[in-house]
Amino acid sequence: MTPIPELIARKRDGGDLSAEEIDELILADVPDYQLAAFLMAVYFRGLSTRETFALTDAMVRSGETIDLHAALGRRVVDKHSTGGVGDKATLAVGPVVAACGVPFGKMSGRGLGHTGGTLDKLESIPGFRVELTTDEFVSQVRDIGIAVVGQTANLVPADKRLYGLRDVTATVDNVSLIAASIMSKKIASGADAIVLDVKVGDGAFMKSVADAEVLSEAMISLGRHAGRDVVCELTDMDQPLGRAVGNALEVREAVATLKGEGPDDLEALVVESCAHLLELSDLGVDLEEGRRRARAAIADGSAVEAYERWIHAQGGDPADGALPRAPFIREVFAGRDGFVHALPALPIGLAAVHLGAGRRTKDDPVDHAVGIVCRKKRGDAVEEGEVLAEIHARDEASAVEAATAVHDAYELGDDAPRAVPIVLETIGA
Ligand code: URA
Repeated sequence: MTPIPELIARKRDGGDLSAEEIDELILADVPDYQLAAFLMAVYFRGLSTRETFALTDAMVRSGETIDLHAALGRRVVDKHSTGGVGDKATLAVGPVVAACGVPFGKMSGRGLGHTGGTLDKLESIPGFRVELTTDEFVSQVRDIGIAVVGQTANLVPADKRLYGLRDVTATVDNVSLIAASIMSKKIASGADAIVLDVKVGDGAFMKSVADAEVLSEAMISLGRHAGRDVVCELTDMDQPLGRAVGNALEVREAVATLKGEGPDDLEALVVESCAHLLELSDLGVDLEEGRRRARAAIADGSAVEAYERWIHAQGGDPADGALPRAPFIREVFAGRDGFVHALPALPIGLAAVHLGAGRRTKDDPVDHAVGIVCRKKRGDAVEEGEVLAEIHARDEASAVEAATAVHDAYELGDDAPRAVPIVLETIGA
């Protein structure tokens, strides 16, 4: 075994590490200070494709893996987003896919910083259990067709450790480390086909399409190496997705989308993601037929029925009246006539965090009722005095503070801006 300082020094000086050497760093009991130094060396020097494969593989082998395909005897699909503001797509994609007869099994995370997490949104539903045993998870995917749970403690424990260190050593935003982190969890949790929603914009990790393309190619090749089909959708995160930002508000918007009453951008993204998942499933349909079936499941009520079955199966109450509501609602008004030129996702996400909808540190509690509803989005015409947004708050003082931040985030101009589609590019289809 090579001494750990020699491995760190080789990476620091731009050299390559073998798969055995990466195993030694990830699977042996290396102290935090050495792993942190290794991460900083990777941050500056990067990892080759071969090293990224080896890192991902070692991370997968650090804990248990689930073979959903073997347990169900058929192809299982999953979707994952790299994280954004107002991103409740999973809550609608899962039930639509399940309603189309394709098993959907997903392990999700919590929100951190200005990006929300699917588990927090689900926990705004009274009674909903995000912690299932591996056996319960597998049985529910088989019997109900859909399960979304928190990552079990023993699934890729190396990622929990590495991510914790990256978070406090300024080494999160490195393409190889992000790709290995996301794909190790997707590979270990067992789906055959994965649609990755790679967010691009001010509210996302990837600020440019070029960076998102590099990350997507890395994740597709990691998936291929592990025998998984991966499609990456690069999607717009220069404004929040849909209108609602905040946990219970987002659940309501996802349910509205399942009934065909959702905002256009969210519905378009849900249909497109479902079409890719159906194409990658064992149904044997092409993308156009996938889109048709996804729209039909929304139109005929089977998608919302699948949602209700799923929420009941995990102990929750799917009724709208069961969701918490914030006691204060304050409106934000337009100061002039014109068009919304920009509604950047980052300040809206941060305003929601200040209201209590998200966490500043990972142990903060979340207030499920609060958040922001953006009544006007980029491209919408507005008149002076018209409502731009609603603030749903716990108390008046936080409502006033958020209203100022949201008002300042809206950029109004004279002419309609150029329209930007929600899906900017698809890679790996
Ligand atoms: N999401 C993850 O799971 N890991 C990262 O490194 C970044 C986003």
